[in-house]
Amino acid sequence: MTEAILLVGGKGTRLRPLTVNTPKPMVPAAGVPFLTHQLARAKAAGVEHIVLATSYLAEVFEPHFGDGSDLGLSLEYVTEEEPLGTGGAIRNVASRLHSGPDEPVLIFNGDILTGLDIRALVATHADSGADVSLHLTRVEDPRAFGLVPTDDTGRVTAFLEKPQTPEEIVTDQINAGAYVFRRSVIDSIPTGRPVSVERETFPELLASGAHLQGMVDSTYWLDLGTPQAFVRGSADLVLGRAPSPAVPGRCGDRLVLPSARVAPDAKLTGGTVVGAGATVGEGARVTGSTLLAGAVIEPGAVVTDSLVGAGARIGARSVLTGAVIGDGAHVGPDNELRDGIRIWCDATLPAGTVRFSSDQ
Ligand code: GDD
Ligand code: MG
Repeated sequence: MTEAILLVGGKGTRLRPLTVNTPKPMVPAAGVPFLTHQLARAKAAGVEHIVLATSYLAEVFEPHFGDGSDLGLSLEYVTEEEPLGTGGAIRNVASRLHSGPDEPVLIFNGDILTGLDIRALVATHADSGADVSLHLTRVEDPRAFGLVPTDDTGRVTAFLEKPQTPEEIVTDQINAGAYVFRRSVIDSIPTGRPVSVERETFPELLASGAHLQGMVDSTYWLDLGTPQAFVRGSADLVLGRAPSPAVPGRCGDRLVLPSARVAPDAKLTGGTVVGAGATVGEGARVTGSTLLAGAVIEPGAVVTDSLVGAGARIGARSVLTGAVIGDGAHVGPDNELRDGIRIWCDATLPAGTVRFSSDQ
């Protein structure tokens, strides 16, 4: 086992409105572009060659990761003119693979943070002799995912992407976005048109009697599809709950990048990341939050479970909980922002404009 495909294209790769011009895989999590964690974990599992299948804002990947030698990997990039869907993207990079027809190829969704034992998935694939093996995880609400029921040997019996009706919710096991494909199965995906591996390839393979094997692994798993999930993932990387060899520095309560400035009595906890050139003022308290490059937290502000975009400024004594502040936005002093609020990039919120506390 030496090679993998990483899917980093499609329509959902923008983290709106936080970073208008940055695809999600390149937004820093625990101080480095998120994709670095996936690449480093694959490398640690023995993968040597990775093809990035990209479409939207593809031009940002190669200047950063180059040929992959900094990570000890051989990286290649393939850009779709129009998004080809997950299956189309996999098929579109087949010519770059070195594996023979019966050899296994790893495939990863590019927006997943997980502690998956990649070698165990590959071993399961070899032991079961499957055509495709899938990492499965259990979630409370499976509706936003691909449902994957299995029999008592772990063999997949159906694949139901994003079920619409209660009757379709037949299991809490979902597709966790990591697969091993037999190389020849990749070559059998149709070319030249969009194909969804979830809606087309997997159901067709099952209908034709192919062997799809599930491996339920209840290790750390998070889809970083929302900014809130992204903040959670970044904090979990810093805290060491989500294992990654690419976290710069030791795991602990906080990660402060070298050029950041933090006042001596400011408190940083819960996996907070202070990005390059960011500033945290006196008496500020920042918990479980990600401050991107150049962000400024003024004295006395309290920031919890929030994402503060590059160059954004949070005014003195403002209190943020579960907020997403776009790049360059300015939240004036004495505001109170609560769960789910998103401040657009470069917007300005004057001093004392928003609060939730009662009159007194
Ligand atoms: N190159 C390329 N081209 N990549 C794509 C395209 C495309 O047209 N469409 C999607 N991708 C990439 C995305 O960048 C992402 O890394 C991955 O494929 C999955 O796409 P999402 O858009 O994030 O899908 P999802 O989160 O709704 O559902 C998928 O992931 C779930 C787990 O998080 C499915 O695979 C579900 O079955 C699964 O449960
Ligand atoms: Mg996703």
